[in-house]
Amino acid sequence: MKKILFVCLGNICRSPLAEAIFKHKVSEKELDHFYQGDSCGTASYHIGNSPDSRTIKNSLKNGVPISHAARQLADYDLAHYDLIVAMDQSNYDNILTLPSAGSNQNKIKLMRDFDPHGPGNVPDPYYGGDDDFQEVFDILNRSIDHLLETFSKR
Ligand code: 4NP
Repeated sequence: MKKILFVCLGNICRSPLAEAIFKHKVSEKELDHFYQGDSCGTASYHIGNSPDSRTIKNSLKNGVPISHAARQLADYDLAHYDLIVAMDQSNYDNILTLPSAGSNQNKIKLMRDFDPHGPGNVPDPYYGGDDDFQEVFDILNRSIDHLLETFSKR
C-alpha cells in the first residue's frame, strides 16, 4: 500500500480536490488496494470544514465526487506517508520547517514536478473565479495522471 498526502494552505480548495481526483482515478483503474490518498493544510484556519463550495461545484462539474474534512498537517504525517505532495513553493517551504522533514525530505515533492506541461505552483484559487478553479482542476488532472504513471513504476 502506497500512502500519498496532498498538502496546500487551507485544505479547502487545492489539496482536497487533488485527493478527490487521485481517489477517482485510483478507483477507475481498480487500484484501491494499492493506494491510499489524503489531504491536509499547513494552516489551521479551516480545520473540520468541508471543501470550499466552489471547489465542490468544480469537482462535480468535472465528474469527480469529493468529500473531505479539513485538517492541519502534523509532524507525524511526514513519517507516515510515502509521498507528500505540496501544491506550491510556500506549502513546500512550510513542510520543511517541521522537525521530521530532514529525515523524510526525499518524500516531499511539488505537485507540478509531475506536470507534463512543466514545473511551477498550483495557483491558489481562493480569491479567484470559476476559471481559476477550472485551471486548478486541469493542472491537477494531468499532473496526477503523470504521478500515477511514474509512482506505480517504482
Ligand atoms: P487552499 O486555498 O490552500 O487551496 O485550500 C486557500 C484556502 C483558504 C485560504 C487561503 C487559501 N485562506 O486564507 O483562508
